[in-house]
Amino acid sequence: MVTAYDYPSATHVDAAGVDVLLVGDSAAMVVHGHDTTLPVTLDEMLLHCRSVARGARAPLLVGDLPFGSYEASPRQAVESAVRLLKEGGMDSVKLEGGGGARVAAAKAVVGAGVAVMGHVGLMPQAISVLGGFRPQGTSASSAVRVLREALALRDAGCFAVVLECVPAALAAAITEALRPSGVPTIGIGAGPHTSGQVLVYHDLLGMMAHPHYRQVTPKFCKKFAQIGEQVQNALSDYCDEVRSGSFPSALHTPYQLDERATEELSKALRAEGEVGAAEAAERVFEEKKKRT
Ligand code: KIV
Repeated sequence: MVTAYDYPSATHVDAAGVDVLLVGDSAAMVVHGHDTTLPVTLDEMLLHCRSVARGARAPLLVGDLPFGSYEASPRQAVESAVRLLKEGGMDSVKLEGGGGARVAAAKAVVGAGVAVMGHVGLMPQAISVLGGFRPQGTSASSAVRVLREALALRDAGCFAVVLECVPAALAAAITEALRPSGVPTIGIGAGPHTSGQVLVYHDLLGMMAHPHYRQVTPKFCKKFAQIGEQVQNALSDYCDEVRSGSFPSALHTPYQLDERATEELSKALRAEGEVGAAEAAERVFEEKKKRT
């Protein structure tokens, strides 16, 4: 699984043969520039979902329910989930948390006919109560709590469960416990013993090269490319070439007037009293003639 947030990223994820595409609320951070996932709204997520749905044909599309769109009641969860499918073109939704209220929300959404992916361990929407972006399940008692949450989400009908920032042994234990029910785990910062893996598009591509982002790039993320550097170099080269006049060269100047049209234009401009403009058009025509 990989995240995507717009048409071009969706087309790349699709072409790479990724099985599941998550329109994550990580959009708040990597697309909108917030420090947490909390500010992104359901309407903003819907815009991302619609763009992604136009670009990705093969992967299963999962739309993240953003903070504030499902916690109030199972009814609110169902209404928001239905919007992600009806208006956003998603196939399923994801919600964070495996406590009582979240399990009830997951159950209600599944009952309404919408497939739900669960998410336990580090839940970025819960940083207020978790005390920040911290790994979870790092003591025996909290590991048991995370395991119970995953099982509760399975019982609520979730078709898969994301395990974020938990020790590898706990991820292996949860994966094993869910195996008989056919519910896969999808790990992020959870080691190799999960059924699948997920990374954030911008993180795995090394897209965020600016100093602020470098502070928050997760430790567990492997950068499979340094796209941010390439983007930066390309933009700098573009600026340099425009300023020096070397872009656009003849190669990137496809539209030309022929001799007759140039003469007619020049005549018309002179008739309007625009002698300088007429000379400019003639000069360009002569320069092109010299080159060919
Ligand atoms: O929003 C997101 O990108 C996620 C993944 C990190 C699982 O929830």
